[in-house]
Amino acid sequence: MDLLVKIALWSHFLAIGVGGSATFGIPVVGRMMLQGPPEARPSFGGTIDRLSKMGRAAIGVLIVSGLFLVWARYDAAEMPATFWAKMLLVVLLIALVIYTVRNGARARAGDMAAAARGPVLGRVGMGMFALIVLMATLAFQ
Ligand code: HEM
Repeated sequence: MDLLVKIALWSHFLAIGVGGSATFGIPVVGRMMLQGPPEARPSFGGTIDRLSKMGRAAIGVLIVSGLFLVWARYDAAEMPATFWAKMLLVVLLIALVIYTVRNGARARAGDMAAAARGPVLGRVGMGMFALIVLMATLAFQ
């Protein structure tokens, strides 16, 4: 069991790194796409797609490893409020990711309002990710 817990912790931390690079990297590439020449857009778009897939895979790993860690190391009934705040933020982050992916598809189809929403959604995502890490830090001292 000790080894499984170590593997889950390792996966959790690795996925935080991968998810963080997607969350903070996509807005950077998005800005470069808006500022760059139109012929470079498909290439930037492909980079965003790949980062987005990495981010979604990371959320999957965080959920599976996180649920396992709760089951193996803690009593769900005795988790502090900061843990439940973190869970609420994770649910909101998943909803934001779904909305952002759909928004990106609309932007690529030429919807200018959706394109303008992209950077705002990126900033909300970065803020939510930072808050989740804060809640995790407060929950598990
Ligand atoms: C975006 C999603 C997530 C992020 C960014 C995240 C981030 C973190 C961070 C930074 C820590 C380390 C806290 C510390 O040791 O001070 C942590 C630990 C932990 N997380 Fe997550 N987490 C996420 C999702 C989840 C989910 C969905 C669950 C459970 C359903 C979960 C359960 C846990 C548990 C149980 C620990 C404590 C591990 C231990 O030291 O025993 N996490 N998380």
